Amino acid sequence: MTARPESWYAQPAEKWPDPKLKGHSIPGYRYHSKEFFHQEWENMWTKVWLLLGREDEIPEPGDYQQEEVGPESILMVRQQDMSIKAFYNVCQHRGARLVFNELGTVDAFTCPYHGWRWEIDGSLTFALDPEDFPEGDPCGKLTLNEIACDTFAGFIWVNMDPDCVSLKEFLGPIWDDWSDYEIHTWKRYLALTATVPCNWKVVLDNFNESYHLPTVHPQVDGVVEENYQWTQFDMSEEGHNRMWMQSGTPSHSLAKRGEELLKPGLAFMLEQWGLNPDDFRGGREFETREALQKAMRVKGKEMGYTQFDNLKDHQLTDTYHYTLFPNFAVSVWADGFHFLRARPHPTDPGQCLFDNWWYAPAPEGLTTPVMTINGPVERDAEVEHEVFNYLDRSLSNLIDQDMGITTGQQLGFRSRAYKGVYLAKQEHRIRRYHELIDEYIEGKRPAPKRSSAIAAE
Ligand code: FES
Ligand SMILES: [Fe+2]
Repeated sequence: MTARPESWYAQPAEKWPDPKLKGHSIPGYRYHSKEFFHQEWENMWTKVWLLLGREDEIPEPGDYQQEEVGPESILMVRQQDMSIKAFYNVCQHRGARLVFNELGTVDAFTCPYHGWRWEIDGSLTFALDPEDFPEGDPCGKLTLNEIACDTFAGFIWVNMDPDCVSLKEFLGPIWDDWSDYEIHTWKRYLALTATVPCNWKVVLDNFNESYHLPTVHPQVDGVVEENYQWTQFDMSEEGHNRMWMQSGTPSHSLAKRGEELLKPGLAFMLEQWGLNPDDFRGGREFETREALQKAMRVKGKEMGYTQFDNLKDHQLTDTYHYTLFPNFAVSVWADGFHFLRARPHPTDPGQCLFDNWWYAPAPEGLTTPVMTINGPVERDAEVEHEVFNYLDRSLSNLIDQDMGITTGQQLGFRSRAYKGVYLAKQEHRIRRYHELIDEYIEGKRPAPKRSSAIAAE
């Protein structure tokens, strides 16, 4: 195997604790059983912090964002004091949905059915014919049903459990890992949401391993070290997973197969940062990563990437792929963020809502396009959120490759022949996820150290 320069080893990421696994066999019913779907909803989805909104979508008091998760619709509303409150999007008179659009601005929410007026803080200030209610005027008595809400990395997170742990406690090591990237300032440059015919866990299973890369995405090994022996896999106590893949480098898999090391993707990356690919051919191919880090330090400053000053050298080039329990996977780079989320379908365990989004910094004056998974997007572009059914349009080449597999796997999980998994160690993050889901179902989570986010306010 071709040798790496010594400096390559210089900055290992700190290991996470890797909790002991029990050896779950992950049988197929977990992906299609209505009963299991119901158990998950009652005991896991409604007890866990969910990334649901984005702060910059609702900058002013009265701005709201409405997002769906399973059978629920949640309203996130900017308050007069600039804090954000989250409510179930359901009128407390007779259950009408208050709004249906994703984003909007209101003085107050007026229910479309009988006109009750709910203020942005959830209080009721108008009900028609208040004297006609035998139990008394509902104003001052009823409020919208509020749930815990907090923010991190510019995202709005909600939790339907009134007795939940704090978001910081829930996120564990993610909090520190992400702080230096300044993700809260980044903008969305791709927003594709598709209803996909597979259970949400099939999607997360897929993003919880890189074992499929050589087969499903053969194109990536020119710029990412996809060989598992050179990759660090981590599992946190809180249930989140991390995979550290060195990037800006040829993969050792290429070397193993005796293929050309400096592929066009890597050459493009080098040129992007002002380096000449020809300087690295003929034995210096594994020096590209370090050279890129040096070039990025200098050029990043010129581009206005202030976050580069906070980041360690390896964070400049490398791919940190996280899966945040339960439904959010993300690849984080120094200059971009691939957002992958699967939300449960309201009623059908065999479908999910899949978000394939991209965030990147937008420093003032920077005009170079953002390179998203779906191609370049102008830095000042107004990006439309596109919602569609699977196969109505492409989700990008790479994600189409993934979904082609996950939708077929959903069919396989219904087969009598599927008896459960036979996992490689590099796939153990999948097992961890399933064991954690079971812990929620058995009522063992959240962790005993509770500090109710609502009570703390
Ligand atoms: S259901 Fe909302 S006012 Fe009647
Ligand atoms: Fe994939």
